[in-house]
This record gives sequence, structure tokens and C-alpha cells, in this order.
Amino acid sequence: VVLVKGCGYMREKILSMLKEHKDEFISGEMISNKLGISRTAVWKHINNLREEGYEIESMPKNGYKLLNCPDVLTLEEVEEYLNTEFIGRNIYYFDTVDSTNIKAKELAMEVEEGTVVIAEEQTKGKGRLGRDWLSPKGKGIWMSIVLKPQLPPSEVAKLTLIGAAAVSKALEEIGIESYIKWPNDIIVQGKKICGILTEMSCELNMINYVIMGIGINVNLENKDFSKELVDKATSLKEIIGHSVDRKKLLGAILNHFEDLYIPFKNAGDISKVINISKEKSILIGKKIRIIQGETERTGKALDIDEEGRLIVEYEDGTVDSIFSGEVSI
Ligand code: BTN
Repeated sequence: VVLVKGCGYMREKILSMLKEHKDEFISGEMISNKLGISRTAVWKHINNLREEGYEIESMPKNGYKLLNCPDVLTLEEVEEYLNTEFIGRNIYYFDTVDSTNIKAKELAMEVEEGTVVIAEEQTKGKGRLGRDWLSPKGKGIWMSIVLKPQLPPSEVAKLTLIGAAAVSKALEEIGIESYIKWPNDIIVQGKKICGILTEMSCELNMINYVIMGIGINVNLENKDFSKELVDKATSLKEIIGHSVDRKKLLGAILNHFEDLYIPFKNAGDISKVINISKEKSILIGKKIRIIQGETERTGKALDIDEEGRLIVEYEDGTVDSIFSGEVSI
């Protein structure tokens, strides 16, 4: 076997050495000896890494010290926050795409379950009901997770609940209290900060794949939102007053997602998800409007049942449980 030690290989080796010694100096000589390349070659790689956004201090006697990594959502940068088995272990990272859901659909048949497509920017981000989804560069988490559960298509609505619960739990982990607007929005301080668009390809009674598109407004500023949006949507940065670490948040979402997804995939168990959906529900006990296709009805949200359906009491006193729909308060 001939191992071709190309540029990418050395770059990775140097970067992992720097990361192992984060905030410490590591000498150019040590790197060059360990990797069997010249000190000039080391220096060139260091400069390339700097151009990629790695902040590296250098001192003639002490060598190099990694101070900061760029704010990019590559697997290389997110890996340290992941403790999953398969969700997010394969990341297709793009600087710009039309929509990560579209890209994920193109890749779906040939990639493993749990593959994530992420872009720094989407030029045609898709929202539900044919709406656009604002996705400015580097300011959010715009991603699609490819899932291949061996389940009938009727089970797909539950996946959206898993996604929403995972996002809400991850926000809790970074100290942000959020609500779930069943089935697929996350609300913080009365405004939307995350939406989920689940799409699938299926046969009559078997899912081929599901694309779960999750968009989170992380570090957008009010000025990024249009006049119409600014009253309804916000970002985590606007809420807490400073930027949020996207890598850490992404890692936490994928970890929670896997944790909730595995019992569902293996045994159809969504009990934990239902508990989270109820505990964080913004709808239960409130008067709501439900839009299903062409019809709009008002009623009161009573509960979420064990199948993830919203139980509604309509104004005429009839009680029904709904699988999906667009709900507003
Ligand atoms: C909604 O609330 O209307 C759903 C929004 C979903 C947005 C995400 S961003 C990543 C993925 N790619 C898309 O084009 N849409 C989803």
C-alpha cells in the first residue's frame, strides 16, 4: 500500500497536533520531526491554515500556538462536540447552496443514514407551505439530516417531533429556554427561532428516505430580517445579547437527536419525545387556529397524545386529534 501524503493529509496532521496542544506552544521542529517534513513545509501549512481562519500565534523560539478555530460547521470543527454513533458522523459541508434539503435529496440514496448536509448560506432556503427561508451566510445553522427508518410513511410526522424536541433540549443545554409550537417550530420569547421542514420519498408502505431540514436563527441581527419577519422571528443572538457558538449548539442538537431517534427507529418508542413535546408545548391550554389545507378552524389545544397528535377541542365542543397542520395562537 502506498500512502500518498498529500497536502490535505499533512494539513490535517498539523491541525490535530495544534488542537491537541490548544493554547500551548508546539515547536516547528517537533512538528517537522514527527511528520518527516521540512520546517519550511510546516510554516507553509501554518500560513494556509491562517488563511482558512485559524488564528495561530508564532514565536521564533517557542513555535506555534493555536488560539482560535474558524466559525465553520465542518465535521473537522464539530466532531469534538459529537458523541453520536451515526448522526452527523458524515457531514457534507457547503459554503453556499440553493437549499440543503434539495442537496440532501440528491445525495440521499447513496449516503448512509445520519448524513448531514450543512451550508453556511442558502440562496433558496425553503420553508413550509412554499415559503422562503432566510439563510444569510455564517449566521445560522442550515442543515438537513438524511434518515432511513424502516417504517411506514404514516410514521413520518413523529420524526418532526423528534427534531423539535432535540432542538429544544439542545437550547436548554446552552441555557436558553424555548417552547415547541407543535409540530415543528421553536419559539423563544414569543418569536420563532427555528423551523423544521420534513420531506420524504416513499413507496406505498415503506419510507425510502426522509430529509429533515432544520433552520436555526443563531447569530442573525434584527437588521437581517425583513420588516414583515422582524415581528415574528428573532435569533438567539438578539435574545441573549451576544453570539452563540454554532458548533457547540449543532453538536448538542445532533446528540439529542440521536438519543431520541434510536428508540423510535428500533422500537417505535417516542415516549421521551412526547414528554418533551408536552413539557415545552406553547399550545396546550391555549386558544388556537388550525389550518389544514383549505380549512381553518378555531379551538383549544388540550394535550398531545402518545402518538404525537395534538388533541383539540373545537368551538362546538367536539374533540379531535390531529396529525399535522399549521397552527397559530
Ligand atoms: C419552516 O418553518 O417553514 C421550515 C423552515 C425550514 C428551514 C430549513 S433550513 C435547512 C433546510 N433547507 C431548507 O431549504 N429548508 C430547511
